[in-house]
Order: sequence, then C-alpha cells, then structure tokens
Amino acid sequence: MTEAGFQDIASAIQGVSGLALQPGQGYLLASRLGPVLRRHGLADLPALAQRLRAPGAAALAREVALATATHETSFFRDEIPFRHLAGEALPRLAAARPAGAALRLWSAACSSGQEACSLAIIAAEQRAALGGRAVAVLGTDLAPAMVARATAGLYSGFEIRRGLSEARRDRWFTAEGENWRAGPALRAACRFATANMVEEASLPGPAFDVILVRNLLIYLDTPTKERVVELCARRLAPEGLLYVGAAEVLLSLRTRLAPLATCHGAYRLDTPTARAFWEGA
Ligand SMILES: C[S@@+](CC[C@H](N)C(=O)[O-])C[C@H]1O[C@@H](n2cnc3c(N)ncnc32)[C@H](O)[C@@H]1O
Repeated sequence: MTEAGFQDIASAIQGVSGLALQPGQGYLLASRLGPVLRRHGLADLPALAQRLRAPGAAALAREVALATATHETSFFRDEIPFRHLAGEALPRLAAARPAGAALRLWSAACSSGQEACSLAIIAAEQRAALGGRAVAVLGTDLAPAMVARATAGLYSGFEIRRGLSEARRDRWFTAEGENWRAGPALRAACRFATANMVEEASLPGPAFDVILVRNLLIYLDTPTKERVVELCARRLAPEGLLYVGAAEVLLSLRTRLAPLATCHGAYRLDTPTARAFWEGA
C-alpha cells in the first residue's frame, strides 16, 4: 500500500476514535481489516483507502476504527489502582459524601468489562470500610460489541484466570459450563453503555468520584490525549480521582490535574479543594 493509502485509512480511524496510527503500523491494518474488506467486496487495502476518500464513507470509517481497536484487558489490571482505591481512596471519598449518596465510579474505555467488575468487587469487599455506602459503576466503550460482552458478563476460563483469584472467582461469579458469569451482586452494581471519549455529547454527565481511563491514551496523539483528559476532568467531582494506565503519564500534557503523591497513575483536580482533601494542605 502507498503511504497516501495508509494515511487515508489512518485519518479515517483517527476521525472516529482519535487513535493515531504510527507510520510503521501498516501490519495492524493488514491483520485486522480482512473481514471489513470481505464484507464490502473490496480487493485490498488500497481499494479500502479509495472507498474511504469517497463521499458518504462515515459508516465505513466507523467500521474500520472498530475493527482496528485493541480490546486487551484483564481483571485487576496493574493492581496498584485497585489497592489504592480499596485501602485509601474509596473509604475517604465515602466518608466525605452526604448520607444516602452513592459513590459514582466510571470505567471509561472499559473493553469487555473486567475493569468495571474489579471496581464493583473491591467496593463490595470494602462495604464496611465504606460505611455501607452504595457504589454505582458505569462502564463505557466505543465498541458496541464490547459493551454487549460486558453487559452479558460472561467470561471464558482463560479470561477469568487473568487477574482474578479462585476465591474471588467463586465468590463473585457463577460457573456456566466452561465459562463464568458475573453474579447478581456484580450485575446490580455495574451498568454499561457505548460512549466515544472524543465526542463530548456521547459521554455521561458529571460528577464521578472516580474515573479510570486506562490504556486508551497510549494510542492517542498529544492534542487528543489532552482533550480526553479535559473531558474526564469536567466529569470529576471536586475531590474526584482519575486513574490512568501504568504506561501513561500526564505530566507532559497541559491538564487541570495534579498527580497524587500516594499512588502512581492517580490524579486529582489541581484546585485548593482537592489538594486540601487529598494532601491536607
Ligand atoms: C486496550 S483496551 C483498555 C481496556 C481497559 N481500560 C484496561 O485498561 O484494561 C482499550 C479500549 O478502548 C476502546 N476505545 C478505543 N477508542 C475509544 C474511544 N474513542 N472512546 C471510547 N473507547 C475507545 C476500545 O474499544 C478498547 O476496548
């Protein structure tokens, strides 16, 4: 494929999801777009690039963006944010909220829902430390197929072993043949919906006590990262926390957030209220 053809496909993807393909990533198009080519009767990637240049290609561009997205995830991925949430953040946030108000947690770009389930599990396990406070978890993803999987809450034996102890598996999931289904407590705590992190109109309203937006920013260019972080910042409660992935750092970006000293990858709003709440200053 020519450089121009690669660019046509890359900009179609970026226009939908914000994902910025690097020049060396032609292999990703070749390996993931076969089904799209077949569905549309296109001979090869140059033919796809040409079709994407024609007017009225918005639906095709969306299909291409969804087909090239990476959905890699696991339960309790990277552990650190979940330990921090369980041991420090959720109890402090719960203690500060008015009686009767549920804590709102958002797993943004949630893939097939393991991150949202992990949040619901620690909230349930820490129920006493949270003073019995209700916790509502929202998981959102660009891909309707991932939202459908997360809503079904059905995981293969391989998926369930990734990050989940047998004790937690047996407590929170029910065996269904070779698979495991999220039990009633998890299903009651989690809700899933589609949302595009680069389209503000598709995002849920404020305010969230905790937002996890992990392993999405690595795929974005700097201006898009800054936009996604800003859209999240607008949805944080005054003392809310945002967690990014282990390989993601916000320090070189222009944001309204400050890193939390006590947890790598956790950020608060850069305001006196949030600083006083988390650092007592
Ligand atoms: C690598 S997974 C990360 C899943 C989870 N957050 C984790 O860290 O394990 C990235 C997810 O982001 C989703 N995604 C990609 N672009 C998106 C966008 N613009 N808005 C919302 N989700 C997006 C993909 O569909 C994919 O499921």
